[in-house]
Amino acid sequence: MNPELALPINGGFLRPLVEADVHQGYVDGLNDPLVNRFLDGVKASVQTAGSVCDFVAADRLSPSSVLWGVWTDESPRHVGTVRLHGIERRHGTAHIGICLFDQRCWGRGLGSAAIAAATRWAIDALGLRWIEAGAYEANLASQRAFLSAGYVEVFDIPGKYLLEGVPTTVKVYAARA
Ligand SMILES: CC(C)(COP(=O)(O)OP(=O)(O)OC[C@H]1O[C@@H](n2cnc3c(N)ncnc32)[C@H](O)[C@@H]1OP(=O)(O)O)[C@@H](O)C(=O)NCCC(=O)NCCS
Repeated sequence: MNPELALPINGGFLRPLVEADVHQGYVDGLNDPLVNRFLDGVKASVQTAGSVCDFVAADRLSPSSVLWGVWTDESPRHVGTVRLHGIERRHGTAHIGICLFDQRCWGRGLGSAAIAAATRWAIDALGLRWIEAGAYEANLASQRAFLSAGYVEVFDIPGKYLLEGVPTTVKVYAARA
């Protein structure tokens, strides 16, 4: 989906990404092991400008995804993404993921602000009632960002998923309308 809207957040804004937004910092950030440590799909293969453009295009055309770029007031290029996917109208549910690929932006409240804005839009504009995120238990920054954005922990999935080859617990968080 490519809704015509920008969502303001403290210190920046979100806007749905188009292929022309793809820049080298975005591609390099996705390939950075510190950034992609907990991003299964991203690190499964080396990202290139082409693969990232294909990803952006697929989400723009998909009726069940919205991929926003996260812009700060200081940066002309986006510094991260927040993505609603698996939007399921029948149940009113969706999944959400976040990645600030520019590490200079970590720890300033940007992640929680982006999650909160996208979640609010999903509830208010799409009428969804349950937005869900999974985080590896070692990813404390992600868990705290979702908690700060108003999410609550709903269940754990112990041992199903591998992190660096080792079975681990994924903690599932949800925001409810
Ligand atoms: C996870 C991520 C989005 C967090 O964004 P952020 O802008 O750095 O987070 P915020 O500044 O909004 O901080 C949110 C909370 O996490 C805490 N936090 C931030 N970094 C932390 C860290 N490394 N360890 C523990 N807590 C941390 C903050 O103190 C804050 O807590 P509070 O709200 O209780 O005060 C960002 O680190 C990121 O994109 N990481 C790489 C990709 C990733 O792991 N995505 C999530 C996959 S589930």
